[in-house]
Amino acid sequence: MPRGQIAVPLRPVSENPEPLRDSCAKSRHIEACLNEPVEYVKSAGFDAWEFDNQALPELVLGAIDLCVTFAGKALQAPLMIAPMTGGTAQGLAINRILAAAAQRFGLAMGVGSQRIALEDVAAERYFRVRDLAPDVLLFANFGAGQLARGWGAGHARRAIAMIGADAVFIHFNAVQEAIQGGDRDFRGLGTALTGLCRELAADAIPVFAREVCFGLSVEAARMLVECGVQGIDCSGAGGTSWAKVEACCAPPGRRREAGLRFGEWGIPTARSIRNVRAVSGSIPLIASGGLRSGIDLAKALALGADVGAMGRPMLLEAARGEGALHAFIEDVLDDLRTCMFATASATPAGLRGRLHRAEEPA
Ligand SMILES: Cc1cc2nc3c(=O)[nH]c(=O)nc-3n(C[C@H](O)[C@H](O)[C@H](O)COP(=O)(O)O)c2cc1C
Repeated sequence: MPRGQIAVPLRPVSENPEPLRDSCAKSRHIEACLNEPVEYVKSAGFDAWEFDNQALPELVLGAIDLCVTFAGKALQAPLMIAPMTGGTAQGLAINRILAAAAQRFGLAMGVGSQRIALEDVAAERYFRVRDLAPDVLLFANFGAGQLARGWGAGHARRAIAMIGADAVFIHFNAVQEAIQGGDRDFRGLGTALTGLCRELAADAIPVFAREVCFGLSVEAARMLVECGVQGIDCSGAGGTSWAKVEACCAPPGRRREAGLRFGEWGIPTARSIRNVRAVSGSIPLIASGGLRSGIDLAKALALGADVGAMGRPMLLEAARGEGALHAFIEDVLDDLRTCMFATASATPAGLRGRLHRAEEPA
């Protein structure tokens, strides 16, 4: 099936200029991500690093084990399908392809923002994936904007119960909201997040904070850790640019132009990983934003992440069909194994630090 064709009909971008806050916005985001130039020009930063090749690895390639434990659950590989969609028939169709792949390969997965279903229970059925992914480490999701407006543990518990999730992501997307004309008052977020973490800790539900592609500074990472989050996805720049996605989805005019001006905004993912690790050596860390191969995944792990996540690449392959998605994931995992073999890393954690800056003589 050619790129961009998913079994559920998509609405052309131009047909629905406003509003950008409902199910039609989600469909337009997907259509833009499938068909428009939404990637950063600048790099995620992985090309600035090279592995220290080990010519005598003393390992059997075929026996290399990718298994990790993350957020209390066993994964067959340190790879995650980043949160993207749900809440519409089209989103459900995509999520079910992704969920089946996550189950087959033992990956973690997140659903996209559940705001739509937390505001309208009729949309809940469009998030159903657990039946296809009974063993998967599954993340619920809603936005920091809602948290700042008074959502809290009750909403998080509902989001988790809705999909049978193991943990919840709160996504931080200030630049996207600014361009979209969405939630623009982020005051009190630290206090709200601290309260949420405390309340859900009593239920043993991990709260993870995530950017959506603009990266985390050292200061932001420190604030999140101090709020008590159980884990972080430092989603950085270099892959899908949410400023560009919003530009594609906005009607011609000021909002579109602003999206284009901010198209390259963000801290590259390689830097974002190191910013989090500068604050905490131990907090569970997912890296996303611009991971496009198993080599990028391996570099993300080597720089300090515990798990790497991919968004748009998974979406593009899912749109081509289950076979294409499975072949892509197999390639990513094979490349990860090769990186481990060629650096004498017997475990994914063993990759940590086995690289050097490309411009520096090793
Ligand atoms: C179609 C699409 C929809 C997304 N929706 C969400 C969302 O609802 N919540 C969220 O936390 N991140 C969302 N993201 C962001 C991704 O999880 C990821 O952080 C970002 O796309 C960078 O990764 P990539 O370069 O591999 O795509 C979405 C990404 C895509 C491609």
